[in-house]
Amino acid sequence: MKYSIFYIFLFLIACKDQDKALRKVGLIAKHAMVVSARVEASQIGSDILKKGGNVFDAMIATEFALAVAYPYAGNLGGGGFMVYRTNSGDIGAIDYREKAPIAATKNMYLDSIGNVIPEKSTLGALAVGVPGTVAGMFAIHEKFGSLPINVILRPVIELAYKGVVVTQKQEDRIKKYQPLFLKTNKDSIKFNRPWKTNDTIKYPELAKTLERISMYGKDGFYKGKTAKLLSSFIQSNGGIISQEDLAKYKAIWRSPIIFNYDDLKIISMSPPASGGICLAQIMKMIEPFPIHEYGHNSLKSIQVITEAERRAYADRSFFLGDPDFVEIPIKNLISEDYAKQRMQSFSFNKPTLSSDLEHGTIDFIESDETTHYSIIDRFGNAIAATTTLNGAYGSKLYCKELGFFLNNEMDDFSSKPGSPNMFGLLGAEANSIAPEKRMLSSMTPTIIEKQGALYMTLGTPGGSTIITSVLQTILNVHEYKMSMQEAVDAPRFHHQWLPDEIRMEPNAFNKRLINDLNDKGYKTNQKDSPIIGKVDGILVLQDKRYEGGADHRGDDTAVGF
Ligand code: DON
Repeated sequence: MKYSIFYIFLFLIACKDQDKALRKVGLIAKHAMVVSARVEASQIGSDILKKGGNVFDAMIATEFALAVAYPYAGNLGGGGFMVYRTNSGDIGAIDYREKAPIAATKNMYLDSIGNVIPEKSTLGALAVGVPGTVAGMFAIHEKFGSLPINVILRPVIELAYKGVVVTQKQEDRIKKYQPLFLKTNKDSIKFNRPWKTNDTIKYPELAKTLERISMYGKDGFYKGKTAKLLSSFIQSNGGIISQEDLAKYKAIWRSPIIFNYDDLKIISMSPPASGGICLAQIMKMIEPFPIHEYGHNSLKSIQVITEAERRAYADRSFFLGDPDFVEIPIKNLISEDYAKQRMQSFSFNKPTLSSDLEHGTIDFIESDETTHYSIIDRFGNAIAATTTLNGAYGSKLYCKELGFFLNNEMDDFSSKPGSPNMFGLLGAEANSIAPEKRMLSSMTPTIIEKQGALYMTLGTPGGSTIITSVLQTILNVHEYKMSMQEAVDAPRFHHQWLPDEIRMEPNAFNKRLINDLNDKGYKTNQKDSPIIGKVDGILVLQDKRYEGGADHRGDDTAVGF
């Protein structure tokens, strides 16, 4: 008897080991790592870290390298957010989000009878918000940079001159958007050529712009030759961004959103990004439920997560906007009491219909593209940064002379209450257009501590699905005990209050589960979401090495040493 128990014990250990052997793990590195949407950008960032640069130097290099290697979303003509945690535990965040031009007006995308004019906020020069990326990088460099900017930018400029090899995924993307490049630009642009996998695209015009930035700093973009060229280019295409808009742009340091979930401390982006608040609300609503017992992507887990998402997105659409323009009851929204109150109407028996659900009541105390990258340096400093042009190649408007695409971030405003934007998101007064206001974002760059130590850094593109993709990746590691790579690769689903449906990645969930959800009364949609998010993250393993999770849905790659 004794022996048989002993053998069963051995067998279980063997199974466990085998289980481990079968697990898919991402790149493991001992000292430092960069995970981003393109190998060229990850490599440039990692080389800066090897040279002795810190996480912020590497971030600046990676961000600019993505502008060269990943014009789909990497940018000079867009904006983003970054959350950091230094090795001494200091945390902070920067907002380099685009803002509405001074000449913007509340109803600028409506016709004379108040209807939203299709494509006006998504295609061409009027869709462009004042870009923030270059200002963001220089604000970060001023505060934290350790290497000179020309050292950081040199490999990026070399890459732009040398060119970047087209991948299969890039070939497909360029092809898909060529009709819109033609429609938007007066002249034919570089991306109209029939690029094929393994071709090399060179970016000499972008290299020249980067050289000016390297030489003159922030002013190399927001003033002088670049600013003159850029504003007259935008205006000659019918836009309203002036030299004054560019000269006035400033990145803003913000306090991140911080909350606890079990033994994790989660640090995420604050408004004008909705990511941190929504993530906190959803996780606080989920926390009382033993979802690890229900199982990953099980009926009960999906029900709890969906209902929490539904409630958080209903609040998002009402309460959130640029904190410099509207008052946001952040404390109340992310409190445990409010989460409990919001989930009172939840039942495992049937869905809460979105048509029966509104934003919660809070007593105000008076008073299709983005890209994410995660970096940890050899000193243990970490950043999570998400940057975007909004749609794929932004407004599709490409400034040939300067060599980059311009964003269509103005579509992230609510053009009209009740009218969905390109991600189907609704907004209200809090996110209406006003001169110099920042449009609400879903970006969710996030860093996590466990028992006081750095544990994870992650984020993703995906418009409205950003928040729920970050959420599921955290839960996959923390609740369902996956490796970082497994957590990133696992099939995802998404609910955003309206439309009232669970979007699910196609062919990733079994039929029985879908039937069970449908039987309960949930609408499921596997058609309109070929992929949900493209998460890049780094997990600190127990032995203090790093595991990268680079999303298989893109060309994303981890590089480390
Ligand atoms: O800030 C936002 O929420 C959007 N502009 C993000 C767009 C995006 O993620 C597109 N990528 N798929």
